[in-house]
Amino acid sequence: MANDVDALISQLTLEEKAALVTGDGFWHTRAIERLGIPSITLSDGPHGVRRQPPEQENGIGGSFPATCFPPAVGLGSTWDAELIERVGEALGEESNALDVQVLLGPGINIKRSPLCGRNFEYFSEDPLIAGELGAALIRGIQSKGVGTSLKHYAANSQETDRFRVSADMDERTAREIYLAGFERAVKDASPATIMAAYNKLNGVYATEDRWLLAEVLRSEWGFDGVVVSDWGAVNDRDAAVAAGLDLEMPESEAGPAAIVTAVRGGSLDEASLDAAVRNVLRLVFDHAHLKADAGTKLAVPDDMVEDHHTLAREAASRAAVLLKNDGGILPLAQDASLAVIGEFARNPRYQGAGSSQIEPTRLDDALTEIRRLAEADVPFAPGFTLDGSGDAGELVSEAVAVASSAEVAVVFLGLPSVAESEGYDRENIDLPANQVALLAAVAQANPNVVVVLSNGSAVRVSNWQGGARAVLEGWLLGQAGGGAIADILFGIANPSGRLTETIPEKLEDNSAFLDFPGRDGHLEYGDGVFVGYRWYDARELPVSYPFGHGLSYTSFEYSGLSMSVDGADASLSVHVSVTVTNTGSVAGREVVQLYVSAPSVQVRRPLNELRGFHAVPLEPGESREVSFTLGYRDFAYFHPVLKRWYVENGPAEILVGASSRDIREQGSVELRVNEPVVPLDRQSSLAEWMKHPGGQQVLAGVMQQTAAQNPAAAGMFQNEELIAMMGSMPLRRIGRFPGVGLTDEAVDALIAQANSAG
Ligand code: BGC
Repeated sequence: MANDVDALISQLTLEEKAALVTGDGFWHTRAIERLGIPSITLSDGPHGVRRQPPEQENGIGGSFPATCFPPAVGLGSTWDAELIERVGEALGEESNALDVQVLLGPGINIKRSPLCGRNFEYFSEDPLIAGELGAALIRGIQSKGVGTSLKHYAANSQETDRFRVSADMDERTAREIYLAGFERAVKDASPATIMAAYNKLNGVYATEDRWLLAEVLRSEWGFDGVVVSDWGAVNDRDAAVAAGLDLEMPESEAGPAAIVTAVRGGSLDEASLDAAVRNVLRLVFDHAHLKADAGTKLAVPDDMVEDHHTLAREAASRAAVLLKNDGGILPLAQDASLAVIGEFARNPRYQGAGSSQIEPTRLDDALTEIRRLAEADVPFAPGFTLDGSGDAGELVSEAVAVASSAEVAVVFLGLPSVAESEGYDRENIDLPANQVALLAAVAQANPNVVVVLSNGSAVRVSNWQGGARAVLEGWLLGQAGGGAIADILFGIANPSGRLTETIPEKLEDNSAFLDFPGRDGHLEYGDGVFVGYRWYDARELPVSYPFGHGLSYTSFEYSGLSMSVDGADASLSVHVSVTVTNTGSVAGREVVQLYVSAPSVQVRRPLNELRGFHAVPLEPGESREVSFTLGYRDFAYFHPVLKRWYVENGPAEILVGASSRDIREQGSVELRVNEPVVPLDRQSSLAEWMKHPGGQQVLAGVMQQTAAQNPAAAGMFQNEELIAMMGSMPLRRIGRFPGVGLTDEAVDALIAQANSAG
């Protein structure tokens, strides 16, 4: 193949090359018929296939029906890579049925602020979850031959001003948080393409960032697929080619023209263009065999519709998170006296707005599904309207009357579709005030209230949850979410979702509160690596529900933590195992979470960081041993000066539990690694010299010499108070002091001597 591609490249004109690295219309690559180069089709993504009919290829509506699985906010809450891989396989099958060769997903950006309008399309505030679950989806989709597009690379964690804003952060923050998920997904699952984001990173457009695209992505991580622009993300096409952006999407006239001019004018090396052409041709030829024959009817076959709806229901039932369940009010008996309240029960909010919007093959609503399973009549009142129309007072009175007539009131609350969308951010994390007022009125009439939430990102619960005995966070659950909610309410499914984002008590507690959404085109990531639970835990802030939290209808016990250490340095490996037992009377799934608290003298680190997780199904009374293997990277931080992953010696705590704040078993291992030393230079301070192994020796020699020549000056090096005060002073400047007399040349010689000794 490589040779064929190179042979083709040698036959292409410059204009053809420029055309090949630019889209054809909204969703296709460019065919060059004279050389037998076909075109392939790309479509959104990520939680369903949004294939538009050829005659309507623009905008976001009007796509062929396809299964709408739970968006990433729901899939992520399952913490279940095996399930997500199966969802990926289903997406791959539907892509093939709809003649799509590259599905544009998964999206794995970090949920830094709950305000990001697009959080529903992302998995987590934690990069391990984002990377592992993103990789699972990629593996599933690509197992059917279909390519994926890992997006939005990188640091696209807000929508405000997304086409221009610069995400400004230090390299450690980028590496540990905002790039780490991409690194994992690229290395573990080799996505066919990666999508360069709209925004800038530290002042450089992601589509023009050589460091991001060529150095980190290709050289360091070994990515060998296509870098595609987000739709309309290219700013300067020739700069983008030079930086390593292969394919501009969608079609543009300006892009190819700019490339041709730049190559002719000598400002763009044709070899860079050839590299992009080579990548695009490999993508096209790797996927062209999947293309449907001309005239094939594009539709998801009926039996697939059926099977995938069932899978969507399974995924949704694992995604909902039971936040609270006072007195075990849930599950409900099927013959219980129930009332259902809230417009979302019959008019479900099941996916987010924007380019990921799927035309579902079917749509279950919770009210119908509850009534299908209930063995008694279930009265309903909407309580509010989604567009604010109607008489609010009458809607509430009707709801109160219905709630009073039943033993339990199940109240569906949430965010209306316009509240969160691609393209803009939220302004607050509150539920609409009319819904909070409705809940208060219903709770006064009936003490047995169960709230079911529909929202794409965390909402504040602290100001109303006192009015509910149970709260089921239903996120956005896709087309089969209604049935899944009914299954959970009646105990046909046991909730096993866990939070992948912390629910703060109030927005002001969030790490991004003072920065978000930035100003003057810049967004300061002033919280650094302290994002999500890393922040709340470091600040010891009370939260409504911590990262990793989620209840079950059964109970789990942890026991027998054991740990052993093998190898050293890069081959360091720590084996951890723990036994988890279902101590209740129904089958359930526990999500066993492993956190590491690693030694750090040189930098400030989060208290605990998630380094492993397993979703474990357990029958009543059943025990299983769950094991994890941790490597060097799991104990490392990104050293800001050495610019490498770095582990410090010392004891590392291993914590296993059911949330970041519910640790059940804990132990410690002693890390022994070679700690590379930061080399000394002309600006190194006295304190740094004293800490540096070679520096100490060399300084001792200098002191002896100074003592011999000038006892008064030598006293300087022996006076502890003076040393503490002068610790931050570069040795070179001390060298200039009267009586010390170190020339720059002498300091340079000492530096060389110290660095070679240390
Ligand atoms: C979105 C991408 C999407 C693309 C194509 C962009 O606006 O950011 O996620 O894949 O459009 O619809």
